[in-house]
Amino acid sequence: MSPHLTSRLPEVGTSIFAVMSKMAADCGAINLSQGFPDFPVDHDLIDLIHKHMRAGHNQYAPMPGVSALRQALAEVIATTYPYAPDPDTEITITAGATEALFSSIAAFTAPGSEVIFFEPAYDCYSPAIRLNGGIPVPIALAPPFRIDWQQVEDKISPATRVIIINTPHNPAGVVLQPADLHHLERLAQKFGLLVISDEVYERLIYDGLAHESVLKYPALFRQSVAVFSFGKTFHATGWKVGYTVAPPTLTAEIRKTHQFITFSVNTPVQWALADYLRQPAHYLNLSTFFQRKRDFFLDQLKGSSFEALPCEGSYFQLLSYRTISEKPDMAMAEWLTRTHRVAAIPVSVFYTDKTNHFLLRFCFAKSEETLGRATEILRKL
Ligand SMILES: Cc1ncc(COP(=O)(O)O)c(C=O)c1O
Repeated sequence: MSPHLTSRLPEVGTSIFAVMSKMAADCGAINLSQGFPDFPVDHDLIDLIHKHMRAGHNQYAPMPGVSALRQALAEVIATTYPYAPDPDTEITITAGATEALFSSIAAFTAPGSEVIFFEPAYDCYSPAIRLNGGIPVPIALAPPFRIDWQQVEDKISPATRVIIINTPHNPAGVVLQPADLHHLERLAQKFGLLVISDEVYERLIYDGLAHESVLKYPALFRQSVAVFSFGKTFHATGWKVGYTVAPPTLTAEIRKTHQFITFSVNTPVQWALADYLRQPAHYLNLSTFFQRKRDFFLDQLKGSSFEALPCEGSYFQLLSYRTISEKPDMAMAEWLTRTHRVAAIPVSVFYTDKTNHFLLRFCFAKSEETLGRATEILRKL
């Protein structure tokens, strides 16, 4: 008898990022779909990993993360936000932000708990909520993707336990303002909610805007988990190292789930990151670096029929193709990849109900050569 298979995620197929990247590879298309850089990781960082591997840092790391890395992070956070987390009780190193999000959702979502988040949404929130018995409560935002906090308050029920925010936002490129964080703080306090704040693009923020981390709002932070990713900050998405920053009682709960999901994270990479973080130049100029890429991409698109939406942060640019085609965005992305050899992500995949706003998401974390070739094609459409 074959096993009784009950899929926990019956409607979930291969992620759109994998689908589009494969389609791009199959068609020889320029891949601006998946969010990863096509330029190299700093060789100094790679040398540091070699150094630590040779020095024998190859066995299990401590469950919460290598102490030197948590210490280095505490210092970076203290100068950035400023909030001085206790590295022993408030910082946990995870297998990328994905695991940080999953471990946090698992820690705070009991069966029947409602979890509010905003769509378009990064694709791992809803499955993680459901796998942990929670009920996803998406709030759909339309361009320009600003949050109506009264609408959020109206969605809060006695079963609501968690709100997930994401700033700078993937895919919309929107950055939350201080007023948003104040609204969130008020609601979190009024209804006793936990906030999971996905801040993986904390250092990719443009036009002089500031990143409004939950770490900057003491009352809000008391009931928050901030989630970060080294993959985004150091152009190394394949290393899958991230971390959470949360008050001690919340961190203790996150570590309970983390220890049974991965237990601990790649040791030599943690040691190398600890050394690398000691030089602020390694992370302080990222906004300038990526803003130049965004501006280059937009500049090269001048004269095209695509309309660019504002991108305040992240490394994604949304383009509306309304004047080019009436196709749904999924069909448009496929046509663009197969016929014109440029791959992008249809924004409808970030909505539970697959709302089509005639928008495609392009990743501009690419070399000027790649962006130049892609925009040359896009300009002609
Ligand atoms: C908003 C957002 N959160 C989380 C992640 C996952 O980060 P990581 O690769 O560190 O798991 C991503 C990756 O694209 C993202 O865009």
